[in-house]
Amino acid sequence: MNHSYKTIFITLTTLLLIVACTAQKYIEPDFPEAMLPHVKTEYVKRYDQGQILYNMSCAGCHNKKDGRKIIVPDFEPDQLRGYEIRVSNAQHEQNMPDTLVTEEELGIIMTFLSYKKKNSAK
Ligand code: HEC
Repeated sequence: MNHSYKTIFITLTTLLLIVACTAQKYIEPDFPEAMLPHVKTEYVKRYDQGQILYNMSCAGCHNKKDGRKIIVPDFEPDQLRGYEIRVSNAQHEQNMPDTLVTEEELGIIMTFLSYKKKNSAK
């Protein structure tokens, strides 16, 4: 292996490791038992989208760490009031304008936060 190949190999390996270590773990949804299968299929799509959007727009301020484990907070249903969240505190007013997180995206994020498995659940 000549020198430049070695450099490229080391760089790629390092990048892969960084990506693997910082990748967010998927949190399973916890839908009500009574939810009908075809409804569930649609909710899973919305939930998955919400999880990605949450990781992009909210996780930076809201996730906590427990050792190496990343904890997404369990918000109470009455804290998840779509639009009101936008203006509930100065941090949100400055960092969540609807040009950054649209009304539709906020709704999708609410689906993720409402149905994500609780941290207490095993
Ligand atoms: C710049 C930092 C920041 C970002 C980004 C942010 N938040 Fe917050 N959020 C806060 C702070 C600070 C509070 C108030 C203290 C707390 O509850 O942690 C808060 C409170 C909340 C609450 C509780 C509101 C209440 O009235 O009880 C919810 C729900 C919430 N945020 C959801 C979100 C969602 C969803 C996003 C992404 C779309 C988000 N936050 C993005 C900083 C942020």
